[in-house]
Amino acid sequence: MKQFFSVADVTHLSDMVDEALRLKQAPFAYEHLGKRKTLGLVFLNPSLRTRLSTQKAALQLGMDVMVMNMDKDGWALETRDGVAMNGTTVEHIREAAAVMGQYCDVLGIRSFPKLQDRDADYSEDLFHKFSSYCGVPVVSLESATRHPLQSFTDLITIKEHWKESRRPKVVLAWGPHVKALPQAVPNSFSEWMCRAQADGMVDFTVAHPAGYALADEFTQGAAVTNTLDEALYGADFVYVKNWSSYKDYGQILPVSGQWMLDNSKLTTTNGAKVMHCLPVRRDLELASEVLDGPQSLVIQEAGNRVWAAQTVLKRILEGN
Ligand code: CP
Repeated sequence: MKQFFSVADVTHLSDMVDEALRLKQAPFAYEHLGKRKTLGLVFLNPSLRTRLSTQKAALQLGMDVMVMNMDKDGWALETRDGVAMNGTTVEHIREAAAVMGQYCDVLGIRSFPKLQDRDADYSEDLFHKFSSYCGVPVVSLESATRHPLQSFTDLITIKEHWKESRRPKVVLAWGPHVKALPQAVPNSFSEWMCRAQADGMVDFTVAHPAGYALADEFTQGAAVTNTLDEALYGADFVYVKNWSSYKDYGQILPVSGQWMLDNSKLTTTNGAKVMHCLPVRRDLELASEVLDGPQSLVIQEAGNRVWAAQTVLKRILEGN
C-alpha cells in the first residue's frame, strides 16, 4: 500500500478487517517492521483519537513518531500555484511537504474542509498536493471529504460485534448539531459500507432530513430515506453523525421532527448497537441515556482506531 485516502486503496476489504482483528490479538507481532522508520503526523486541525491511536499503532510496529501541529506551530501554508506570496502565507506546500518527506518514511495529514467552496473542498487539493510533493507514502488522518481510518475502524467494530450468519442491517443516522460540520465522516462511512454491502458483508441504509443528501458518489447502492423511524426498524447497528448540507453547501437547514437518537427510538431496532466517531455533543447529537447505556459501542469503537491504523501502517511498511 502506497497511500491510504479512501476505500479504493483497499483491494480485499474483508481480508483487511480480519488482519486488523488478528493484530488486536497480537499487537507486537510485527514490532520489527518499523524499526528505524519514522512516521510524521501533520495536523492542520484538532484531534484526540486520530493523534493518539495512530501514534500508538506506530509505536507497536516499532516506529518512531514525530507530530507537527502545523496549524499552531508551523508556518502559514500556501497551496496555490502561480501566486506571489505577498500576503499572510509564509511557506509553500511544495517545499513544506518535500522537506517533511526528507525526515519521515511515512506521513499522515489531517486537513478539514473550509465549507465555503464545495468544488474547492471536493477537489481534495491539499491532500493530493501534499501526497505528490512529499515523496513518501501518505495516510489520510481525515481530509476534506473522507475519514478512512475512522471508516475502517467502524467496519472492524461491526464485524467484531456481529455474531449471526445473516448480514447485519447498518444505518447511518443524521443527528442534530449547532455547528456546520463537514461531510467527511458520513461520506466515508457510507462509501465503506456501500463497498461492504457489495462484498456481502452488510445491508446499508442512510437516514437524513430533507436537504441533507450526501453526494451521490458516496451512497451508490445504499437505501436512502428521510424518515428516521423507517430506517431504524430492525436495525442491528446505528451510526449517528451530524453533517451540514452538501446541496446548500456548508449550511444548517431547518429540520422537522425528532432526529436525536434516544432510547425510545431504539425500541424498534433489533437491539441495535450504537456507534459514533466521537467527539459527540451529549443530548444534542445523541442522548446521554444511549451513550451511557448497554447498546453503546462508542468507547470500543474508539479503541479499535489503533488496529485500523496499525493495519494500514503495517501494509505500507510491507510495501503491499
Ligand atoms: N474520530 C476522530 O477522528 O476523533 P479525533 O477528531 O479526536 O481524532
